[in-house]
Amino acid sequence: MVPNQHAGSAGASPSPLDDSRLSGRSMLLVRAYAIAVVLVSAFVIAWNAPSIEAQTADQLSDPAAWGDDHVDEKLPMFTEGGECLFCHRTDSITRWNRNRHQRTMRLATPDEPAMKALANFEGLEDVAEEIGLLLGAKEHARYMKRSAKYGQAEMLPIKFNANEEPTAQSISVPESGAREWDAAAFAERCAGCHASGVDRETLAYQAVAHDCFVCHGEVPTTHAANPEEALFSKTGKHSPEVLTAICASCHIRTGTSRSTGRPYPTNFVPGDNVFKDFEVDFSDEAIDALNPNDAHVLMNIRDVAVRGLTGETCMTCHDIHDQSTEAHELLKTRQDCYVCHEEGVRKSDVPQVDVHSAVCEY
Ligand code: HEC
Ligand code: HEC
Ligand code: HEC
Ligand code: HEC
Ligand code: HEC
Ligand code: HEC
Repeated sequence: MVPNQHAGSAGASPSPLDDSRLSGRSMLLVRAYAIAVVLVSAFVIAWNAPSIEAQTADQLSDPAAWGDDHVDEKLPMFTEGGECLFCHRTDSITRWNRNRHQRTMRLATPDEPAMKALANFEGLEDVAEEIGLLLGAKEHARYMKRSAKYGQAEMLPIKFNANEEPTAQSISVPESGAREWDAAAFAERCAGCHASGVDRETLAYQAVAHDCFVCHGEVPTTHAANPEEALFSKTGKHSPEVLTAICASCHIRTGTSRSTGRPYPTNFVPGDNVFKDFEVDFSDEAIDALNPNDAHVLMNIRDVAVRGLTGETCMTCHDIHDQSTEAHELLKTRQDCYVCHEEGVRKSDVPQVDVHSAVCEY
C-alpha cells in the first residue's frame, strides 16, 4: 500500500477507507494483545505470587529458622547409585553418566583434553603418570590421584583451562611450583561440593563425584509404593525451601560453615536446612560482586530461602537429569533476566561471560 504523503496539504486527513482498515486491524491486535496480557498475568500471578517487585526488606525472614541438620551427628551410609539404577532405568537416568554432576570427578583417561594437554607439556611426564582422576567437567580441570587414606584424594597445583585445541598453553603453573601433590587441599576446600557424603571428622567421601544421594538423600525403601516420599518426586510434597537448600548446599560458592570454617556445609544430608550451619551473605552488594552465573543462583536462593518467594526454584528453569534450561525461555521477561541478557538486545544474543570463583580456584 502506498503511504499517505501525497494526499495534499499538510494536515489533510488520510482517506476514510485507509483509516477504517487500519483501525480494524489494530482493533484485532489490541484484542489479541489484551487477551494475551490477561492470560500471561494470570499465569504469572498464579506462578509467582507474590511478585518479586512487591517484596520489601521487612518481609525478609531468617533462612535458618526451620528444620534440622546433621552437623553433630554421624553421616549416614547411603544407598549407592548402582542400587537405584537396578530399578530406575528411565532415559534421563541412563544418560546420567554424561551429566556434569556425575563427571565432576572422573578417571583421567588419555582421551581427556586435560590429559592431552599435559602430554604436550615438557618436564612433567613422570607426574602425569601418577594422575588418576580429573576434577571439573566443563572448561576448567584439576589433576588428582587417590590417596592412601580411604575416601581421600591428592591434588596438583597446576590448572587446566580449556580452549579449542588443548595445548601445553592450556596448563597454568603457579609460582609455588607444579609437582607437589597436596594431600589436604581437596578434602579441606573442595570435597564437600565435588564428592558425595563427606564426613566432618575423617573428611573421607563415600563416593567420587555426585551420587544420587547428594540430591535425593536417603530414599526410604517404602518409596517404591509411595513415590512421594522421595525428594524431587513428581508427586512429592517437599517444600521449595527444602528442595532449594539441597542445590544451595553446593551452588553457593561464597559461604562458610559455622562449625568448621570450611567453604562447604558440614555433614549436609538432603532434607536438612543448610543455613543452620552455612553462613551466607545475601546482600545486594554480595550479589553484585558475582559473575552472572553465580549471581542468578544466589538471587534465586535468596528469593526462596530469605524472601519466602516460593513460586520459582532452580527446577522451574533447569531440567537436571537432562542438563537443559529450555523451560526458562517461556518465562515472562522481568528485571532479573538482565543478569544474563541485555536490555534491548535479542534474547538469542547472550553476552559471553567469564566465570571465576575464588573457592574453585579458577
Ligand atoms: C553435592 C554438590 C551439588 C549438589 C547437591 C548440586 N550440584 Fe549442581 N553442580 C555441582 C558441581 C560441582 C557442578 C559442576 C560440575 C563440573 O563441571 O565439574 C554442578 C553443575 C550444575 C549445573 C551445570 C550443568 C548442568 O547440569 O547443566 C547445573 C545447572 C546445576 N549444577 C544445578 C543444580 C541444581 C538445580 C541442584 C539441586 C537440584 C544441584 N545442582 C545440586 C554441585 C552440586
Ligand atoms: C561450595 C561448593 C564448592 C566448593 C567448596 C568447591 N567447588 Fe568447585 N564447583 C562448585 C560448583 C557449584 C561448580 C559449578 C559452577 C558453574 O558451572 O557455574 C564448580 C565447578 C568447578 C570446576 C569446573 C568448572 C568448569 O567450568 O569446568 C572446577 C575445576 C572446580 N569447581 C574446582 C574446585 C576446586 C579445585 C575446589 C577446591 C579448591 C572447589 N572447586 C571447591 C562448587 C564448589
Ligand atoms: C544434582 C542433583 C541430582 C542428582 C545427583 C540426581 N538427581 Fe534425580 N532428580 C533431580 C531433580 C531436581 C529431579 C526432579 C526434576 C523436576 O522436578 O523437574 C530428579 C528426578 C528424579 C526421578 C524422577 C523423574 C525421572 O526422571 O524419572 C528419579 C527416578 C530420579 N531423579 C532418580 C535419580 C537417580 C537414580 C540418581 C542417581 C543415579 C539421581 N536421580 C541423581 C536431581 C538429581
Ligand atoms: C526396588 C526398586 C527401587 C529401588 C532400589 C529404588 N527405587 Fe526409586 N522408585 C521405585 C518405584 C517402583 C518408584 C515409583 C514409580 C516411579 O515413579 O518410578 C520409585 C520412585 C522414585 C522417585 C520418584 C519418581 C516420581 O516420578 O515421583 C525417585 C526420585 C526415586 N524413586 C529415586 C530413587 C533413588 C535415588 C534410589 C536409590 C537410592 C531409588 N529410587 C531406589 C523403585 C525403586
Ligand atoms: C529463571 C530461570 C532460572 C532459574 C530460576 C535458575 N536458573 Fe540456573 N541458569 C538458567 C539459564 C538460562 C542458564 C544458562 C544456561 C546456559 O548457559 O546454557 C543457567 C545457568 C546455570 C548454571 C551454569 C551452567 C553452566 O553451563 O556453567 C548453573 C550452575 C545454574 N544455572 C544453577 C542454578 C541453580 C542451582 C539454581 C537454583 C538456585 C538456578 N540455576 C536457578 C536459568 C535459571
Ligand atoms: C543464567 C543466565 C540466564 C538467565 C538468568 C536468563 N537467561 Fe535466557 N538465556 C540464557 C542463555 C545462555 C540463552 C541461550 C540459549 C540457552 O543456552 O538456553 C538464553 C536464551 C533465552 C531465550 C531464547 C532466545 C532464542 O531466541 O534463542 C529466551 C526467550 C530467554 N532466554 C528468555 C529469558 C527470560 C524471559 C529470562 C528471565 C525470566 C531469562 N531468559 C533469564 C541465559 C539466561
